[in-house]
Amino acid sequence: MRKNTIGISIIIAAILILSGCETVNVTESTSKTDATAVTTETDNPGERKIVDIDGLPVSVMAGEEIFIRVQILDANNHTQWHETGFEFNSESDDLTFESNVIRLPENSLTDDIYHVKIVFEDMEEEFILSVANLLSQTIDEKGVITNPSTYDAVINKARSLPSDYVPDDLVTVEVPTCLPNPEIRQMRRIASEALSEMFEDALQDDVELVARSGYRSHATQTSLYNGYVSKYGQEYADKYSARPGTSEHQTGLAMDITAQSVNLQLDDNFGKTKEGQWLAQNAYRFGFIIRYPEGMENVTGYFYEPWHVRYLGVNLATNVYNSGLTLEEYFLSLENN
Ligand code: DAL
Ligand code: ZN
Repeated sequence: MRKNTIGISIIIAAILILSGCETVNVTESTSKTDATAVTTETDNPGERKIVDIDGLPVSVMAGEEIFIRVQILDANNHTQWHETGFEFNSESDDLTFESNVIRLPENSLTDDIYHVKIVFEDMEEEFILSVANLLSQTIDEKGVITNPSTYDAVINKARSLPSDYVPDDLVTVEVPTCLPNPEIRQMRRIASEALSEMFEDALQDDVELVARSGYRSHATQTSLYNGYVSKYGQEYADKYSARPGTSEHQTGLAMDITAQSVNLQLDDNFGKTKEGQWLAQNAYRFGFIIRYPEGMENVTGYFYEPWHVRYLGVNLATNVYNSGLTLEEYFLSLENN
């Protein structure tokens, strides 16, 4: 049943939208062939209804096909499982349906939600599919992540990118920048567009942000990291600069942001400036988080970086921001659900 095409794991939390006070239970599928009829107690004799939907697993992989069956209570007070005779509807064009199969999109992101309606003759029921791409399911045995190009990929000291990973949709950002290197003035298209919106919005509040360092190739990160090691020693460098292959900058989804008030440098004091505070309070609205928050070095592995924002998409960034957790903690909390 499982088809791991891009190596993303998804939790499908099926939450049935209940009509009235009737309860519809979701159970994990153990058998696809059970079609026995059972007499069931009901408050309304003669009523036909969907009493159960089977096959909505707790956890599936992106692109996985979910096989559904429904349990119908008929007018004779019998229940029976059906694998055919129903169809699905969803306002989302991303889901695909075939017979009794729902297929999740390959690019589903954590915290995406899909509303699905199942229709069996004149009966219908709704449920929600809630996506969580689990850390444990997006990494190989060498610690290399299997979803480098998804917007919710988690990269850290224990989760490296494939060393040859280069995003295929890098563009030059269209916001003020302060360094001449054309490579680091790039981000992935969606992140660059979000960055432009954020900078324009900041200007409305008289906040002038400047982009300093975005995409960095593996080679650029290597020379940067080695430079810090030579200057400060490896122990310090490891808390400040990511080893090659483990930098979010290689995803094209991170940007270091500064301002004239800190002389366009990457400085802790940026967090205390008007610009740094605006960024911390507003970045989520544009899909970014402050990736290395103050006091969380023991979790993230890095000193506080008030300047480093990471694009996650507005939905996930908002949820991470509201949770008050680091990205690592947020994903771990999903793992335990
Ligand atoms: N400064 C961050 C951790 C990086 O090098 O990616
Ligand atoms: Zn950075």
